[in-house]
This record gives sequence, structure tokens and C-alpha cells, in this order.
Amino acid sequence: MSRLLRIKPLSMLTQEAGEQGEHTLKRSLGALNLVTLGIGAVIGAGIFTLTGQAAALHAGPAVALSFVLAGLTCAFAGLCYAEFASIIPIAGSAYTYGYATLGELVAWIIGWDLTLEYAFGASTVASGWAGYFTSLMQQIGVTIPPALTTTTGNVLVQYNGIWIDRMSLPPGITDVGLPHVTGLFNLVAVLIVLVVTTILVIGIKESANFNSAIVIVKLGIVGVFIVVGGLFLFHHPQVAHANWHPFIPPPDGHGNFGWGGIPVAAASIFFAYIGFDAVSTAAQEAKNPKRDMPIGILGSLVICTILYILVSLVLTGLVSYKTLNVSAPVALAMDATGVGWGSLLVKIGAVFGLATVMLVMLLGQTRVFYSMSRDGLLPKAFSAIHPKFRTPWITTIIFGAFAAIMPAFLPIDKLSQLVNIGTLLAFTIVSAGVWILRVRHPNMERPFKTPLVPLVPFLGIASALYLMSRLSAITWIVMIIWLIIGLGIYFTYSIKHSKVQALPAASQGD
Ligand code: ALA
Repeated sequence: MSRLLRIKPLSMLTQEAGEQGEHTLKRSLGALNLVTLGIGAVIGAGIFTLTGQAAALHAGPAVALSFVLAGLTCAFAGLCYAEFASIIPIAGSAYTYGYATLGELVAWIIGWDLTLEYAFGASTVASGWAGYFTSLMQQIGVTIPPALTTTTGNVLVQYNGIWIDRMSLPPGITDVGLPHVTGLFNLVAVLIVLVVTTILVIGIKESANFNSAIVIVKLGIVGVFIVVGGLFLFHHPQVAHANWHPFIPPPDGHGNFGWGGIPVAAASIFFAYIGFDAVSTAAQEAKNPKRDMPIGILGSLVICTILYILVSLVLTGLVSYKTLNVSAPVALAMDATGVGWGSLLVKIGAVFGLATVMLVMLLGQTRVFYSMSRDGLLPKAFSAIHPKFRTPWITTIIFGAFAAIMPAFLPIDKLSQLVNIGTLLAFTIVSAGVWILRVRHPNMERPFKTPLVPLVPFLGIASALYLMSRLSAITWIVMIIWLIIGLGIYFTYSIKHSKVQALPAASQGD
């Protein structure tokens, strides 16, 4: 039992963080790079796609309140992540924090669980990206064979010359008599993941520059939507009045709408916030991690929360929430302003913007497995660094292939729910870890301190568990199966190869 609880000594972590040389990662990212890395990871399919669906199906205009609820959950966890990232500025994120505080078994569970967040997250966004890209191509007159733009067995219908999901037909229109096609697999999603993987193999510096440029484009498009939509509502208050009333639609009897629908929508749009923690996975590539990690994590979270609340208010003000269950809801709302170029601009922004999200997600995934491999918990191949590019190229290619296959066959809603539950579990463990570390090592140097401990970690745990409880039973079952597979690998491979297990017992607990 004590073997499973062995912690990685902080002295070992600090030493690794200070290592330089050919086999380590380059330290090239500053505070601004980290904030843009965070925003690049955060603003994506959640706000561009899932918000519309959450408003239409669960919360109506009150989805803005769901963003407040999910944002608070992230803020509690973000404050805990920031403390850890400033103490332990080393690649690996929640996995590393867990190893230093809660022991090897919990660390393994978090590391394995983070695959649900990062690799499946990249797959989810690839799915959303494919939707916007296909829609953009159709708008400019290029038709991709529709059977290769959606998941296996999903039925698309041709409506007004455009191929759309059968479920996205406007209210009152049936698919009877419309041309239809059954999906083979989502080739478009596969190809974009392969492009992103290639960029990551070439290198972090190039990736960060690419990311910064696109984050500016993405923020610009979100800003244009808020300003154009906001001005329209200012000049047409009767439209806003009609669409925002009732702000909380009456309950539908299935757990949606009413006050109860707000947390259900929050558990769904929680996906929109995922990614700010990915900043912590780049700690080993930060120039001044102690100062810059908290800035990167909290800065990106605050900026995104404000933007999301504004976008969701404008979105539900411009059009009735009932019409928002479509693959490009922001573009649809933009059309309502009468600005002709608006929806085209939104689609172009989404195509570029979602690409950066995939980039950071896959980057996070490879860095977690890099750390686990360096600790001996996974084979050495996962930490092999390319001699020229200085990137963990083998693990990048393996996860690139994995992340590319998932969206080919699984739909975005199933993928995103899995990502949400996996991330919320990681948040719970990180929040608990900060609390435990304060008790065990009260005098440790903490460049950034989580305020109001133990209240904030407690609220982090409670709010994450609450949102998890709003997710479906099937999502819980898949997560549990995933964790059981992970435990099988831990007990057959990792425990025998762990470097921490090989340390003399006396070095524990420092
Ligand atoms: N937060 C990211 C998105 O919404 C994962 O795409």
C-alpha cells in the first residue's frame, strides 16, 4: 500500500525543472506567450458551437448564467492550478502536482485522466472545426463530398442547396423528400489533426508564434461579433426584449430550462473554458515560470469569462434561443444583424481559431506523457526528444494519430461530455492537492498563494463534483472504464519501472 502512496520528492522536481541540455525542452515562452497560449486553448468549439446548443436545449438566454457558474468553478480550480504551477514549474500539469502531494497512484490516475481532457479535447474541437470548415466551403461554392464531412451513420440532408445535419433543420421543416446522405467518416476532421500534429513536431517556438497570430484573429472576430451584435441590439431594443423574455424559460419536464436547466447547460458549456490549465503543462518551456504561470492561467481565464458572458447575451438577444441548435450558431446570429459579410467572417475566424485550440490540446497531451515517461511510468519512447526540433516527436505522432481517429467516428456531443468529466475530475484532484500540501508543508515557498485556503479548494472540489453530477450516466461509465484500463497499465508496467519506487525510502516526504 505504501508503494502506491509514494510521492515524488519536491527536491527531485525542482532539480528536473532546473535541468538544461539536449534532452530537455527549450525555455522560450514569456508571460504574454503564456496568456496567448491559454486564450488559444480556451476560445474554441465551446463558444462557437456548444453555446448555441446549450441555449436551445437546456437554459435559453440564461445560458449567460451558466457561463457564470462554470466560470466560477474554473476560477476556484484556476487559483489552485496557479499555486501549484508556481511551486512546481515543470511540464506535466496536474499529473506532476498529484505526484508531489497525493502519491504515485493518484498521479497516474490524473495523468491517464488528462488524456480524456487533452487528446479527446483535440478530437472534439477537430469535429467542430470540420463543421465550420465545411460550412465555409459551401458558402464560397466548394462542395466536399458530404459523406466525408460527418461521423459514420450520421444523416445529412440538402436544404436550400446546403448539406446540414438532419437535426439542424429549422423548426417546422421535415426531411421528407430532401436529398440525403449517410456519413462514412469525418475525413475533414482527420486531416486537420494531422496538419496540427506536423506543426507540433516541428517545434514549440514556431507553434507559439503561429498561435499568437491566430489568437489575435480569434479575439478580433469575437470582438466584432460583440460590437456589431451589441450595437444592433442597442438600436433595436424591441428585438432584445422579445428574445430575452423570458430570460429563464419555463421547465420542460425533462430537467431542462427553469433554474434546473442552468447547471445542466453549465456542465455542457464547461467545455468552453477548458484549456486555461493547459498553460501549466508548458511550465518547463516558460522563461520565468514562477512569475508567469499564474499570469498565464488566471489572465486567460478572466479574459475568456468576460467575453463568454457578452457573447452569450448578444447571441440570445439577436435570435430566439430556440433556433440556436445548429452547427454554426454564432454565424446564424450574425446574419440577423443584416451585416452581409458577418457570417463569412465568423466562419473564417472559427476555422483559424479552432485550429489553435487543437494545437494547445495536443501540446498538453504530449507534455503530460513526456513527464510520465521521464518518471518511468510509461516507456521511454514517450519522452524521446527529436535531436533537431527538440520536441517529443514520437509521443506527438502517436497522439496525433489517436486524436485524428476519434472524431472520424464519434460525434461532438459524446466527445465533449467525456472531455468535461475528465477535466472536472482533474480539477477536483488538483484542488484537493493544494489543500493537502498546505497541511503537509505549511512553510514551503509559494510564489503564488491560493487565497482563502481551505475555502477556495473546498469550493473547487464541490463545484466540480456538482457539475460532474449533471453529466449523463453513459459519460460516467466510459470514464470509469477508461480509468480501469489505466489502472491495468499501472499495475502491470508502471509500478515496476517507476523511478520514484527505486528511490531509497528515506528520501520520501521531503
Ligand atoms: N475550450 C476549448 C473550446 O471551447 C476546448 O474549444
